[in-house]
Amino acid sequence: MFSLPNNATIIEVGPRDGLQNEAAPVSTETKLAFIGALQGAGVSEMELTSFVSPKWVPQMADAKEIVARAEKVGRQFVLTPNARGIEAATEAGADAYAVFVGVSNTFNQKNINKSTQESMDALEPLIKDLKVEGKFVRACISTAFYCPFEGAIDPKETIELCRQFVELGVDELSVADTIGMANPKESYELFAELKKEFPDTLISAHFHDTRKMALANISAALQAGVDRFDSSAGGLGGCPFAPGATGNVATEDVVNMLHRMGVETSIDVDALCEAVAEIESHLSGPVQTGMYTLYKNRKPAEA
Ligand code: HMG
Ligand code: MG
Repeated sequence: MFSLPNNATIIEVGPRDGLQNEAAPVSTETKLAFIGALQGAGVSEMELTSFVSPKWVPQMADAKEIVARAEKVGRQFVLTPNARGIEAATEAGADAYAVFVGVSNTFNQKNINKSTQESMDALEPLIKDLKVEGKFVRACISTAFYCPFEGAIDPKETIELCRQFVELGVDELSVADTIGMANPKESYELFAELKKEFPDTLISAHFHDTRKMALANISAALQAGVDRFDSSAGGLGGCPFAPGATGNVATEDVVNMLHRMGVETSIDVDALCEAVAEIESHLSGPVQTGMYTLYKNRKPAEA
């Protein structure tokens, strides 16, 4: 039987994963308007920004101002790779943190300038401290299926890295198909295993849509018991250090699919498309996702 949850949670990553990959700089005011419009559409969990080196990712250089000025609605994550980022984010008012590590050593080196093990060694005391302070910590697991440099990743390695994070006490694992290469069979098998191994940890699926398999992968992950999905309004996104990583699966398309299957979310698709319309003219290209294209093509009388 096709088993489905009654509800699913979207973690909107557009303001972070989406805008980190934009060629043209997006102003702080435009980002804040986008964040506000996403909140207005019912987004309850969001990655707001990242505290990373502005030399590496200049698009996120205004992280402090974003955190300080964004209206506090629901759970708001900041992505951060190190102590410097956690400190700056905390000063700005953050209280939910997303750390990130690649299963693939080569990818991790290119993304964070450390081996995977070096990253884990550095993160261990930081995660422990955040948990002592009662903060929410999510661990983003990049290249969980495939790496642009090393190819296919052994699922055992992904599970092992997840286990290290679970033992450190993280609240959530966000397991990522960084370059959009996984297929639904792989999605089902890995997520079923993760749900079995880590029943007390929240598990989210983070799919990039490079090969247009993301919705199928989400459907497979739902079958494996996953009910939390990272997605980006307008399908924006990609990691600048992962060649071939195009946008995240589009929130409007995920929410539409879920609602049509009877799985409720807190998000209104039309209002979400209005948020996309808000940001589209500030982007380097047009947004061409399924639901947003339908929204744009509606006759004015129907809009
Ligand atoms: P490094 O050059 O090895 O580190 O970079 P460093 O300690 O020598 O620092 C370099 C400079 O950055 C120094 O400044 C530091 O102070 C500064 P300088 O003295 O030269 O003026 N710095 C910082 N500034 C602000 N915030 C910080 C910070 N840390 C150091 N937190 C580092 C190491 C980790 C900093 C760098 O590699 C980096 O910033 N990498 C970030 C890469 C990134 O953001 N990637 C995209 C996000 S991950 C992703 O998209 C994947 C995901 O979506 C899941 C998936 O799809 O797979 C999550
Ligand atoms: Mg990503």
